[in-house]
Amino acid sequence: MNPETREFLERFSSDFQRIDQELSRPLSSRVSLLEDIGHYAVLGQGKRLRPLLFVLSSQLCGYQREDIYRLSTVFEYIHASSLAHDDVLDHAETRRSKPSVNRVWGNPAAVLSGDFFFLKAFSIAVDSNNVKFLNTLTEAGFWMVEGQIQELFHTHDWGLTEDKYMEIITGKTAMLISAACASGAILSGVEDKAVDCLRQFGLNAGIAFQLIDDLLDYTACEEELGKPEGTDLREGKITLPLIYTLSNLKKAERRQLEDLFKSDRAGDEDYKQLINLVRNNGAIERIKDEAKAYVDKAARCLDIFPTSSSKEKLLELNRYIVERRH
Ligand code: FPP
Ligand code: MG
Repeated sequence: MNPETREFLERFSSDFQRIDQELSRPLSSRVSLLEDIGHYAVLGQGKRLRPLLFVLSSQLCGYQREDIYRLSTVFEYIHASSLAHDDVLDHAETRRSKPSVNRVWGNPAAVLSGDFFFLKAFSIAVDSNNVKFLNTLTEAGFWMVEGQIQELFHTHDWGLTEDKYMEIITGKTAMLISAACASGAILSGVEDKAVDCLRQFGLNAGIAFQLIDDLLDYTACEEELGKPEGTDLREGKITLPLIYTLSNLKKAERRQLEDLFKSDRAGDEDYKQLINLVRNNGAIERIKDEAKAYVDKAARCLDIFPTSSSKEKLLELNRYIVERRH
């Protein structure tokens, strides 16, 4: 985590401490290997944004019960589950500045540990006895798988449209963030309108989050990212910075690049050149503006709630999404 992010997140340190305390509890298993992978993948790193959004949304809606931090871990476990699987799908070697689970333990163990985290999430969630909450979680899970399989299907697809890209990131990322925010309201038992507003808040913030994530892959350095820059491009993942850059090129230039990168001929220098092209043709500024618009839209979704410290914190987190460099 870079120093700026750490400094920003420090204002939530008491929440993070309680989230981390709860996270270590359900990692127990009859098989010590699963516990080892769990500690490695879940504890001690990650920004814990999803559980924090859940906690703040619950507080915003007046949730009073003690189990709020325990329930918040549901979102970190689903997230951890999806990352364990994602790194297998992406053949990723690094996650959060250290070797990925698949690299350390191999693909089969990474897939099974992802399943383990997923079940941990649901074993905590069922304790709530709240069917609406459980429905929101399963629905988010479906969206994630649907987003991810579409991304897989469009790997190396240089004709990927902006609309399809938006559909993919909405499913794979924004829906879980949206579910975290909506669930805080659902468990508080507030009226549907408030649930809906928080759902929309999370959805728009989540879209902005992934827009910036994909942007950082082109603009940040390896140290900031915790993985090599330009990874998406090397994995054949077509994201908005490239889509916009390609749309600024003449057809022949576009075709030439596509032929080169779809062949085995593209070397390190070619990747560097393409990354520089993406950095210097206006695509980055355009996406920053779009992410900012989603963040503004998210902020407006909270208008129905009166001023409070949890609302202020949600708005701060929302702004941080577009300001972060990590
Ligand atoms: C990271 O994206 C991956 C996701 C946000 C979602 C992954 C979803 C699945 C693997 C579907 C399975 C879902 C569940 C609930 C088990 P990225 O590859 O763009 O980001 P990265 O650079 O951090 O890898
Ligand atoms: Mg990935």
